[in-house]
Amino acid sequence: MTRKTALSLLSAVVGLACAAETDGGPSEEMLDPASCEECHPQHYRQWLGSMHAYAADDPIFLAMNARGQRETGGALGDFCVRCHAPVAVALGKTTDGLNLDELPQAMKGVTCYFCHNVESIGGTHNNPIKLALDGVMRGQYGDPVPNPFHDAAYAPEMDDNVLASGDMCGSCHDIVNNHEVHLERTYAEWVSSFYDDPSPDDPALKNYYANTCTGCHMPGSNSPIADFDGVQTRRLRDHSMVGVDLALTDFPDAELGPALVEEQRVLMEEQRAPAVCAGLCVRPADGGGTDVVVWLHNEAAGHYWPSGAAQDRRAWVQLEAFDGEAPVVTTGVVANDESIDAAELLDPTLWMFRDRGLGVDGQPASMFWDIADIESNLLPVAAEAGLKYDKTTWRERSWHVDGPVDRAVMQVNLRPIPFELVDELAEEELYDAAAIKARIPTYTVSATQIEWTPETAQMTDLEGACVMSASCFCAISMECGACECGE
Ligand code: HEC
Ligand code: HEC
Ligand code: HEC
Ligand code: HEC
Ligand code: HEC
Repeated sequence: MTRKTALSLLSAVVGLACAAETDGGPSEEMLDPASCEECHPQHYRQWLGSMHAYAADDPIFLAMNARGQRETGGALGDFCVRCHAPVAVALGKTTDGLNLDELPQAMKGVTCYFCHNVESIGGTHNNPIKLALDGVMRGQYGDPVPNPFHDAAYAPEMDDNVLASGDMCGSCHDIVNNHEVHLERTYAEWVSSFYDDPSPDDPALKNYYANTCTGCHMPGSNSPIADFDGVQTRRLRDHSMVGVDLALTDFPDAELGPALVEEQRVLMEEQRAPAVCAGLCVRPADGGGTDVVVWLHNEAAGHYWPSGAAQDRRAWVQLEAFDGEAPVVTTGVVANDESIDAAELLDPTLWMFRDRGLGVDGQPASMFWDIADIESNLLPVAAEAGLKYDKTTWRERSWHVDGPVDRAVMQVNLRPIPFELVDELAEEELYDAAAIKARIPTYTVSATQIEWTPETAQMTDLEGACVMSASCFCAISMECGACECGE
C-alpha cells in the first residue's frame, strides 16, 4: 500500500469556445446542475437523488453546523461547508454555512460543477480540491463531441483507469478535526487496502486489485452519455452513488423526493448484498453447555464496514437461539422505532460496530468538534486480496448457553443515525425530531440473514457445525491458515 504518483495536472482542452464562461469565472448556468439536465438527463436525476445533491439541505447537517458555530464561537468556520457546499465556499458565498438558506440551490451540495471542474488535489483529507473556475468540464474522455454549452477535457483525476483518481473522491471522504482526530477515514482505509494496489501480473489476481471509488460506486452501462447530435455509445456511469444515508426530508420536493428515495433504496440493497459475510456455528462448549458463535467478515466494501461517518453509524448483530420453543439467547432484537443505544445499555452482550467518540474529558462525545479521541471496532478491509483465507480480518464472538441449542437465527442490522443525535440536535429548532426519526431507515443486511439447524449446518473440523451466508467467499470452516478460497 504505497502511495504513488502525483497526478499529472496537464489536460488537453478540446471543444468549442467557452460559451458558458464569463470573465469573472463560471457563469450562473454553468454552476447550476439544472442546466445539465437538458443534455445529461440520466446523470441529473441520479445525482439529484444522491447525498451529494442533498448535502447542504440535510437537516442534521444544518443543525449540527449551527450548533458547532455557536459552541465554538465561530471557530468552526468553513470546516463543514467546505465539503457540504464546496462551490459556495470556493466562490466566497459563505464562510460558515449559516446563510445557506439565502443562497441559490446551485450553491448547495456537491454539484456537477464541483467534481467536473477539479484542477488539482492538494492533500488527503478535509477537501483539498482546487477548482479551475473555468468553463471546462473535466472527464475521462479525450475526444468529446463538441457542444455549444461547455468545453470538455480529459483529466486523470476523473479517469478510473488511473488508480490515483480515488484521491478526488477520497480527499473529501476523509476528515481530520480540530483535535487532529481522524474522524472519517474512508480514503485512508481504501489506501491501506489491496484495492488501492496496482493489478499484479498474475491474471488470477487481476480482478481483485486496482478498484477505485468510482469503480465500485459508479457502475457503468453502455449508452450515449449526452442527448446530443453525433454522440455515440460510450460508458455511462451511475451518479446515484449510494451509501447508507437516505434523504430524511422531501428533498428536492414532495413529488420527486419519495421517488428518488425509492430508487436509492433499490441500488443500496444491490450494493450491500455482497458487502458482509456471516457465519453461524453451534458447538459444545469446553466445560459443558453450548457455544453459539457468530463470524463476520467485510467481503466487498473497499474500506472498513461501516465506514465514513462511523461515529453516527449503528451496525449490530441480532441473534436468537432456541432450545425447542424456549429462547436461550436473545440479543440485538430492536424494533425499527426503538433506540439501539438504549438496548445496548441493557444488554452487555450486544455486538455493535461503530466508532465511539470521546471528548477531552474521556466522556462520550457525538459532535465533530468535541471528539478528541475515537474507539473503533469496524470490520476491517483486507490489505491483501482475499484469495487466501486470512483470519485476521474476521471478527468472532460467542454466546454461552448452559443447555443444548437446536435452532438459531441471526442477521446484521444497520441504522445510519441514532435517534439520540436527532433529539440532541432538535434543540436547534430547525426540524421536527419525531418526523425525522420516523424517516430514519433500519436495514437488514440481507445476506447475513441465516438460520442454523442441525440439518442445515455443515460439520467443520475446528468451528463445530456451521451455516454461512451466500455472500461468503472463504469458508470459516477452513482448518488451515492459508487455504485457497472461492473454489
Ligand atoms: C461526486 C463527484 C461527481 C458529481 C457530483 C458529478 N459527477 Fe459526473 N462524473 C464523476 C466521475 C468520477 C465520472 C467518471 C469520469 C468520466 O467518465 O468523466 C463522471 C462522469 C460524468 C460524465 C461522463 C460520462 C459518464 O457517465 O461517465 C458526464 C456527462 C457527467 N459525469 C455529468 C455529470 C452531471 C451532469 C452531474 C450533475 C448532475 C455530475 N456529473 C455530477 C463525478 C461526479
Ligand atoms: C447542449 C448540451 C449539453 C449541456 C447543456 C451539457 N453538456 Fe456535457 N456534454 C455534452 C456533449 C455533447 C458531450 C460529449 C459527449 C460525447 O462525446 O460522447 C458532453 C460531455 C460531458 C462530459 C464528459 C467530458 C469528457 O471529456 O470526458 C462531462 C463531464 C459533462 N459533459 C458535464 C456536463 C455538466 C456538468 C453540465 C452542466 C453544467 C453539462 N455537461 C451540460 C453536451 C452537453
Ligand atoms: C466536495 C467533497 C466530496 C467529493 C469530491 C465527493 N464526495 Fe461523496 N459525499 C460528500 C458529502 C458531503 C456526502 C454526504 C452528504 C450528506 O449525507 O449530508 C457524500 C456522500 C457520498 C456517498 C453516500 C454516503 C452515504 O452514507 O449515504 C457516497 C457513496 C459518496 N459520497 C461517494 C463519492 C464518490 C464515489 C466520489 C468521487 C466520484 C465522491 N463521493 C466525491 C462529499 C464529497
Ligand atoms: C471494492 C468496492 C468498493 C470500493 C473500491 C469503494 N467502496 Fe465504498 N462501499 C462499497 C460497498 C459495498 C459499500 C456498502 C456498504 C453497505 O451499505 O453496507 C460502500 C459504502 C460506502 C460509503 C458509505 C459508508 C458508511 O458506512 O457510511 C461511502 C461514503 C463510500 N463507500 C465511499 C467510498 C469512497 C470515497 C471510496 C474510495 C476511496 C470507496 N467507497 C471505495 C464498496 C466499495
Ligand atoms: C472533508 C469533508 C467533510 C467535512 C469537513 C465535513 N463533512 Fe459531513 N460528510 C462528509 C462525507 C463524505 C459524508 C458522508 C459520509 C458517509 O456516509 O460515510 C458526510 C456526512 C455527513 C452527515 C450525514 C451522515 C451522518 O453523520 O449523520 C452529516 C449530518 C454531516 N456530514 C455533518 C457535518 C458537519 C456538521 C460537519 C462540520 C462539523 C461536517 N459534516 C464536516 C464530508 C465532510
